[in-house]
Amino acid sequence: MKVQRLSDLGGVSVEGVDLAIPKTPEESRALKGLLDEHGLVVFRNQNLTKRQLVEAGAPFGGAMLNKVTVAPDPEAVGISVVSTRGVDGDVMPDDPDKLVGQADWHTDQGYLVQPNRGKILYAVQIPEEGGQTGFIDGQTTYATLPPDLREQIEGLHVIQSWRHSRREDDGGQQYRRNGAVELARDRFEDVVYPIVYPHPVTGANVLNYPPLWAAGILEMSGSAAEALHARIMAHIVQPKFQYWHKYSPGDAVMWDNWRFLHSAGGTPGRYARTLWSMAIVAGPILGLTTEQAAALKQNAA
Ligand SMILES: [Fe+2]
Repeated sequence: MKVQRLSDLGGVSVEGVDLAIPKTPEESRALKGLLDEHGLVVFRNQNLTKRQLVEAGAPFGGAMLNKVTVAPDPEAVGISVVSTRGVDGDVMPDDPDKLVGQADWHTDQGYLVQPNRGKILYAVQIPEEGGQTGFIDGQTTYATLPPDLREQIEGLHVIQSWRHSRREDDGGQQYRRNGAVELARDRFEDVVYPIVYPHPVTGANVLNYPPLWAAGILEMSGSAAEALHARIMAHIVQPKFQYWHKYSPGDAVMWDNWRFLHSAGGTPGRYARTLWSMAIVAGPILGLTTEQAAALKQNAA
């Protein structure tokens, strides 16, 4: 196994591992260690069937059914097909120049209190242009917070809202994938997360403020809340924190969803792009229950 740094922003690229082959307990521990330590791991030169991709999740906790954004594949439960041509490959975009499949920075299932541990995206069809996936490390954005901002957000909570992500002005439009299953705007109740939490495995502090979901700060309102919201957002999305992965044939990109934000850059309509997506099972509850959130709000009022 050859492990190399992916970029100055962290993450690693791995050669010499075939995810299609079941792993011994020792090999599984080594692979899980890569996820825990680096949070972003690109396995090069894979050649996987859907079934094998599901099984590749075993060392990390196993595959989870992704219930929401794209249709699960009936032949390999746990795999979702993410394609600019729709699930059946037959949706042609009207405009060859318009970007298809863009999504703003987010955590997966951040509208639930118990998000999946991670995800593997396996490149099946790579477009000539675009189609990159962006990553931002929440441990880096925490570590680089200006001291006064770090102090200001201490103990505060962010409202993570499915409804907010699908608002009509911009976010909702961005998130809608061509051919994706359309889901009601009110399908999920808002949830609440700490803005900073210790990573459940490593204990390192993670700055958690996912731009796609972040509807506001639980304990604040009015212009003070808006100003703090804007300042946190501006810190997180700085280009110097963004790593954009350009897929090579055979790439299987895995990341730690408790630590990294990701974003889909979009693909010009004239090119087809298909990935198979596999979510790794959820772990501890990172958000708050409705009762806990209500009690906090009461205290803050
Ligand atoms: Fe996502």
